[in-house]
Amino acid sequence: MQHLPVFLGVKGKRAAVVGGGAAAARRSETLARAGALVTVFAARLDDEFRDLLAGATFEHVAKEPTRADLEGFALCYVATGDGEADARVFAALRGARALINVADRPDLCDFIAPSIVDRDPLVVAISTGGASPMLARLIKARLESSIPAAYGRLAAFMGRSRALLAAKLDDPRARRRFWERVLEGPIAEMVLSDNEAAAEAALAGEIERAAGASEIAPIGEVYLVGAGPGDPDLLTFRALRLMQKADVVLYDRLVSRPIVDLARREAERIYVGKRRADHALPQQEIGDMLVRLAREGKRVLRLKGGDPFMFGRGGEEIETLADHNIPFQVCPGITAATACAAYAGIPLTHRDHAQACVFVTGSGRNGLVDLDWATLVRPNQTVAIYMGLGHLEELAQAFVAHGADPDLPAAIVDNGARANQRVVVGALRTIAAQARAAALRGPTIIIVGTVVALRDKLNWYAKFPSPAVEEGVFGAEIRREVQPTERDDG
Ligand SMILES: C[S@@+](CC[C@H](N)C(=O)[O-])C[C@H]1O[C@@H](n2cnc3c(N)ncnc32)[C@H](O)[C@@H]1O
Repeated sequence: MQHLPVFLGVKGKRAAVVGGGAAAARRSETLARAGALVTVFAARLDDEFRDLLAGATFEHVAKEPTRADLEGFALCYVATGDGEADARVFAALRGARALINVADRPDLCDFIAPSIVDRDPLVVAISTGGASPMLARLIKARLESSIPAAYGRLAAFMGRSRALLAAKLDDPRARRRFWERVLEGPIAEMVLSDNEAAAEAALAGEIERAAGASEIAPIGEVYLVGAGPGDPDLLTFRALRLMQKADVVLYDRLVSRPIVDLARREAERIYVGKRRADHALPQQEIGDMLVRLAREGKRVLRLKGGDPFMFGRGGEEIETLADHNIPFQVCPGITAATACAAYAGIPLTHRDHAQACVFVTGSGRNGLVDLDWATLVRPNQTVAIYMGLGHLEELAQAFVAHGADPDLPAAIVDNGARANQRVVVGALRTIAAQARAAALRGPTIIIVGTVVALRDKLNWYAKFPSPAVEEGVFGAEIRREVQPTERDDG
């Protein structure tokens, strides 16, 4: 982060603006709106200042300021519209106690001014750290159209009732939940539809009820959420919303760091990752922990890679919850097979190739899983294999032994839908050797079927490679960075 994001209180404080044009007028207006006593230093003022001049908190000084002039000022914007003049003023002011901002010169700024979406008292500030004001403006435009103007009213309404609620409900967690219920329920709707009197009455009733209920032992809930294959952009809106509500997050090894970071900042994070031979936390203990945390009244986010019900043992975890009458909800995620197929340009079904797709796991409790081979070698279907890398040789041989063509196309997608995705494409008879040569470490999805041939035409992801992306064709350079080995955690 280039700058510390803070909102500065300037009510009743002196602030200077140097310049008499449109840019200076905009800054003066923002300062005045925040309650600052604004002094504008400029030889003359353009028309944009006309309305501002009428304000009682506004003063015009017809000269360039010196350091002494800024004595007692909290901050100063320099925006004359002339780069040379700005630099000259900055040189004259250097060493002043006031925080200084020079327009379009991040190198001369003590602070930068973000783009804002103003729904007073709700204010959203957007900054790119000076890297791209255009991008900040684009994001601002999007937010302007997606945050209703009435949200300001809602923020003010909640602000007015905070003290009353704090006096009635001691527990900050109970207060947070109370507000969440209000925001997601009819009271917020009343405010947004301009019926504040009804909202005030309903809120007062809710506060009384909550204060009475707070003596009852709280019961939390568990959100079993699919985090997708690793790219935060592939999270669902619902996953994100639940992540923002959680008090505690239990996550696996396959859940990427950027995704864990999207959980509520204050949420406690507990790593419960496990791998085939080295179980960090046995499944039963994870289930017990979910129950214990929920009984403490916490909102528990159980984050699992991909989809929690796809080879993720999510069903077992919520069975434990059901046995203990803990409320839970399940949020699906994008499973590795569909993500890998999409990012490798291999459609899992296709009118000319496959009318069915079978998802199987390549490893069971004791090594290679016992699969129904007669089903897997059927024509016109695709087989997507999870956790198969460790048994690739046996899997490929078994396909052929059960009647599959040794030249049937097969692909391995390693670290699919991530910046370091690699794809190895071959056939059943070559794929194991190819994987060895490319030193794939997983996690991987193996795709078997004629749809793999479509990749030549449909591959799009490699056309936008990040520096880490490498086409993992046979003989490709072996990555030097240490990669995690294929694990069976989800
Ligand atoms: C225990 S399973 C969990 C599957 C997960 N619940 C899902 O829906 O994707 C773990 C396996 O998923 C596959 N996998 C997970 N993330 C992957 C990724 N980004 N790229 C390729 N395969 C992945 C690998 O086969 C890995 O061994």
